[in-house]
Amino acid sequence: MGKTYKIAVIPGDGTGPEVVAEGVKVITTAAQKFSFTLDLTHYDLGGERYNKTGEILPDSVISELRQYHAIFLGAIGHPDVKPGILEKGILLKLRFELDQYINLRPVKLYPGVETPLRDKGPDEIDFVVVRENSEGLYAGAGGTLKKGTRDEVAIQESINTRKGVERCLRYAFDFCHRRDRAKKLTLCGKTNVLTFAFDLWERTFYEVAKDFPDIKTDYAHVDATCMWMVKNPEWFDVIVTDNMFGDIITDLGAMIQGGMGIAAGGNINPQGVSMFEPIGGSAPKYTGLNVINPMAAIMAGQMMLDILGESQAAAAVEKSAMKVMADKLKSMSAGKMGYSTSQVGDLVAGLI
Ligand code: IPM
Ligand code: MN
Repeated sequence: MGKTYKIAVIPGDGTGPEVVAEGVKVITTAAQKFSFTLDLTHYDLGGERYNKTGEILPDSVISELRQYHAIFLGAIGHPDVKPGILEKGILLKLRFELDQYINLRPVKLYPGVETPLRDKGPDEIDFVVVRENSEGLYAGAGGTLKKGTRDEVAIQESINTRKGVERCLRYAFDFCHRRDRAKKLTLCGKTNVLTFAFDLWERTFYEVAKDFPDIKTDYAHVDATCMWMVKNPEWFDVIVTDNMFGDIITDLGAMIQGGMGIAAGGNINPQGVSMFEPIGGSAPKYTGLNVINPMAAIMAGQMMLDILGESQAAAAVEKSAMKVMADKLKSMSAGKMGYSTSQVGDLVAGLI
């Protein structure tokens, strides 16, 4: 008998529950096929619960979540809740509390999936962004003075610690080594303007590089990174960057890999509980219509299986999803796939 993995499932808001259902369908099929067990527990965190009870993310739930092997998340963000409350109170809080200090976001164009980049295909678009996920401008440091007056001051500080920067860079070098492709790690920063933060990043980058002699190092400013991602995406193998730049460039990455319908990410604590999610958000206007593309959630499930150590099952999920994308789906966009959300899940599960 194989192992049993305890997984917390947080479907969340909007289309989250619909895509999570398909992700769960696919990974439980893979579990049966490869003889391991997924013991799933659902949590109703999100906008509905907040509107009903005022609860966002109780401390007791955080303690419970620490006991799982992994967390599978749908989407956070509700049209009837002021922006920021759920995003900061659930998603960012979970990332910080569980110290998921890496946000791993593959940018991979699969065969048959349309990219807006002319003359670029799966051979050119295949890299991974390692986004620092616990510090930077997203740590919540700062404040306001004289709010609401003409003298108002708003300060948002970017926190960059030697420890936080170094652990992220070490993860990125090691990941690049294990990925074993071009073995090139690009630091994406802004050393010409953010001369405190990216000075620390740059010095630490070249120091850590000494421990990874097989990895070629490269540097690009964040604005230039955006340019190269469109013009020459094949230059990238692994990109490492801070929290905000990582947030921004991975939306660009999602677009060149075929859209929000496919982009998945993992919030990783290499020593603790990691959380996997489609990065597209809650898509309120498509909620409940059975038209949203569940492929990103399926690929988030695939990443989860891989990081849990079930690499054969993960490979089977990827292969099946690739076949469905190449042979079946007309488009990766909501409502244009030629199939419903649940049919896409059925197609992928059926090939495992
Ligand atoms: C993402 C999202 C989140 C982030 C928001 C919703 C807090 O944009 O996962 O990229 O900025 O990290
Ligand atoms: Mn984002």
